[in-house]
Amino acid sequence: MALLDTSIRGGELKIRFSVVVCVAMVLGSACAGAQDAKLVNGYRPTWWKEAVVYQIYPRSFKDSNGDGIGDLKGITSKLDYIKGLGVDVIWLSPHYDSPNADNGYDIRDYRKVMTEFGTMADFDTMLAEIKKRHMRLIIDLVVNHTSDEHRWFVESRKSKDNPYRDFYIWRSPKDGHEPNNDPSFFSGSAWQFDKTTDQYYLHYFAVKQPDLNWDNPKVRAEVYALMKFWLDKGVDGFRMDVIPLISKDQAFPDLTPEQLKNIGTAYANGPHIHEYLQEMNREVLSKYDVMTVGEALGISLEQTPLMVGEDRKELNMIFNFDAIRINRDGAQWKEWTLPEFKALYAKHAAELDTHSWDTVFLSNHDNPRVVSNFGNDSDAFRVPSAKLITTMLLTLRGTPFFYQGDELGMTNYPFQKIGDFDDIEVKNAYKAQVLTGKVPEADFIANLRRTSRDNSRTPMQWDTTANAGFTTGAKPWLAVNPNYTKINAAEELKDPSSPYSYMAKMMKLRKEAPAFVYGDYKDLDPGNAAIFEYTRTLGAEKYLVVLNFSDKATEFSVPDGMKLGKMVISNEGAAEGMTLKAWEARIYRF
Ligand code: NOJ
Ligand code: CA
Repeated sequence: MALLDTSIRGGELKIRFSVVVCVAMVLGSACAGAQDAKLVNGYRPTWWKEAVVYQIYPRSFKDSNGDGIGDLKGITSKLDYIKGLGVDVIWLSPHYDSPNADNGYDIRDYRKVMTEFGTMADFDTMLAEIKKRHMRLIIDLVVNHTSDEHRWFVESRKSKDNPYRDFYIWRSPKDGHEPNNDPSFFSGSAWQFDKTTDQYYLHYFAVKQPDLNWDNPKVRAEVYALMKFWLDKGVDGFRMDVIPLISKDQAFPDLTPEQLKNIGTAYANGPHIHEYLQEMNREVLSKYDVMTVGEALGISLEQTPLMVGEDRKELNMIFNFDAIRINRDGAQWKEWTLPEFKALYAKHAAELDTHSWDTVFLSNHDNPRVVSNFGNDSDAFRVPSAKLITTMLLTLRGTPFFYQGDELGMTNYPFQKIGDFDDIEVKNAYKAQVLTGKVPEADFIANLRRTSRDNSRTPMQWDTTANAGFTTGAKPWLAVNPNYTKINAAEELKDPSSPYSYMAKMMKLRKEAPAFVYGDYKDLDPGNAAIFEYTRTLGAEKYLVVLNFSDKATEFSVPDGMKLGKMVISNEGAAEGMTLKAWEARIYRF
């Protein structure tokens, strides 16, 4: 498959001729001097381009009945808190029936709510309350794999001629071994031998997450039906789990040593990926007004337009991991520099023109806490650096996604020992690396303190009562970060200078400034190792964003002839002059 699609590129050229100056957004908008009133600076305006998204990991958000596990009633009780930030869309991590081998990313029944999370009636109430507050809900679509307890798999493994056999990917042993050398993302082989029929099944993730066979049209029909089930209930779209992995090269050639270094890339972009996404769009998505965002594991920036280009009719946008994983070499943490980071955003702006929308995010349930990962979570700098990151995420180009707790500046957890972790990825890696003597235990834990997914899965810190007010029970499913006595929602809601209050102000500012959504992006000082400085311009509306990504006061300058304009926000309150304090962020308007 050729990487450059000429039909997209051609279309782009044509549309770029219609330079449009538009002064307000889709709702209540007035466009001045537009040659084509439908476009804003070349972009087709839609609600999902203008939205700000907040991700909820239900297990860790709010427990309503004291069993130590977050639930849907808990979420419903906190909707005003989310609305108070200015959030437009909630992305809910999996809420379906699951034996929880991978915290809900292993689904047993797509049409049932996880018992610990509540009932379908609780879901319906939550959705109605979200809508009442003029927010939208997207849910997680996890259809690369199911749980091994899903009834399709229970049937499939019974016999070779079971009607559900071809719902999954089964192969006979090769020379008495696995059919090929594919590894699982969660350590070990991606093939699991099943005694009942003496064959292996494929699981790119846990043994309890068998991969569906998308080449079987019956599987695709089932997926489309379950998508309609939720859309007909009124959900507003999907975040699609590891969606580039659904189509496989079913010859299963061995991976080369080079491919083994990055299995995400090796597994993505199977031969029918675009065919299946277009079919899904035709059969389901095109019939609803929805937002879709693909978790684009293994998709390069250059390949992105093929999946999100408007005339492709596949997805609206994807998560590209180049920025969030800039400080990773495989599973290992590594140093990163600001110029490298800026270069990524510049590349995005160049690569994804007006037909391919982008996402902006630096956190989710698979990554550490944003302030610990990209800011400085020490007592001195946690608050300003959390606010600086908020400023950046809300002013870069693309739909911003925040993860629960970002608004409070929640930090990584002080993990000490393997028993402190819950994540299956960690437990499997411990067996494969530490118990085999390949990696010293202390190094393994030290790396996880910076990289573990459990950093972001500790319970939300609501107040200063026991267990941070997350649960009234004695024991939350995962320990609360001990810093909850200082970092919690109750304190921050009262404090006008808290990260929460600042995020609310920033979201309001973004709502009033279409330039942050549809404006051109320009990095003014790409080589500067401390300051990130860029403009967003939409016709006559122009903003300058300056961010000091360092622990020291640092001077900034503007290009010759550029006047600073009026400062519209600063994370440090009153700020003036050309010297930014450590982790100071300012926005000027011209
Ligand atoms: C990506 C999800 O975000 C992650 O949490 C999960 O473990 C894998 N996909 C498998 O579903
Ligand atoms: Ca509960």
